[in-house]
Amino acid sequence: MSYVEFEGRRIAYEVQPESFDANDLAVVFIHGSGGDRNDWRFQLDGLSDTCTVIALELPGHGLSDQPGESDVSKYALRVEGFIEKLGLTKVVVVGCSLGSAITQTMALNPKPWLKAIGLVGAGARLRVMPSLLEALLSMPDKALDNLADYCLSDSASDQLRTAMKLKYTSSDPLLIHGDLSACDKFDVMKQLSLIKLPTIIIVGAQDKLTPVKYSKFLNESIGASTMTVIDNAGHLVMLEQPEHFNMQIRRFLGQIS
Ligand code: COA
Repeated sequence: MSYVEFEGRRIAYEVQPESFDANDLAVVFIHGSGGDRNDWRFQLDGLSDTCTVIALELPGHGLSDQPGESDVSKYALRVEGFIEKLGLTKVVVVGCSLGSAITQTMALNPKPWLKAIGLVGAGARLRVMPSLLEALLSMPDKALDNLADYCLSDSASDQLRTAMKLKYTSSDPLLIHGDLSACDKFDVMKQLSLIKLPTIIIVGAQDKLTPVKYSKFLNESIGASTMTVIDNAGHLVMLEQPEHFNMQIRRFLGQIS
C-alpha cells in the first residue's frame, strides 16, 4: 500500500508493478460508491504486464484519510491532485459507477496528461432510488445488506456475493449515503458530446443500477467511443467477468498507445 498526500489528506493506492516510470502509460482505476482498491483486484493482478496499473481509494474509503465527499466534482479534484502528485504524464482513467461520474467530469475539462477514459457500469445521469438513500439513514443494516444484491448479477458466484456482502455490511452507511448523494446530483447528459477523448464503455448485461440503456446513451453521445456489453455480469462487471473485462481493456490500450 502506498500513499500520496494532497491538501493535507492522504490518498491510499495500490500500484502494479510497484516500481514504475511516471512517463509510462498508466491506467488509474476509480471505484464506485462504498468501494475500495480491491474492486480492481483482477485488473491490478491481470493487466500490469501491459502498463502501470493503479487503483486508488477515494477520500473516506479503504485506507485513505476521512472524510468522503458528497459531490462528484470534489472527488474529481482530489483524483486530479493525486495524479499530478505522482507526476504521471500519460494516463487512462477508468471509473465504475460513482468512479465513472468522476471520470466524465475529468474528461469534460481534460488535463494534458489525460489521454483516454473508460466508463464501467456508467451513466451520464445517476439518479438513485430514493428508497435506498432513505434506508441508508433509517435502517442502515438492512440497506447495506441489500447492496451486494443490487451490484451483482444473479449468476455471481457465492464466494463473490459473500465477500461483497461482508464488505458492504462493515461499511459506514453515511459514507455510502454521501457517495450515492453525489451520484444522485450528477447529470452531464447535455454535455456529453463535448467529451472528445477515446472512450471505452463496458457494462454488464444484467446491471441493475446502471442499465445497458445508460451505456448506449454514452456510446451515442461520445464520438470516439466503443461499447461492450458483457454477459453474466451486473454492475461490478470487472469482478464478475474479469477475463473478458481485461481483454477489452487490453485491446483498447493497444489502440491508444
Ligand atoms: N442515460 C440514459 N437515460 C437515462 C439515464 C442515463 N444515465 N438516466 C435516466 N435516463 C432516462 C430514464 O431511463 C428515463 O427514461 P424513460 O422516461 O424513457 O423511462 C428518463 O431518463 C428519466 O429517468 P430518471 O431520471 O432516472 O427518473 P425516474 O424518476 O424515471 O427514476 C429512479 C428515478 C431513481 C427510480 C431511477 O433512476 C432508477 O431506477 N435508477 C437506477 C437505480 C439506482 O439507484 N442506481 C444508482 C446509480 S449509482
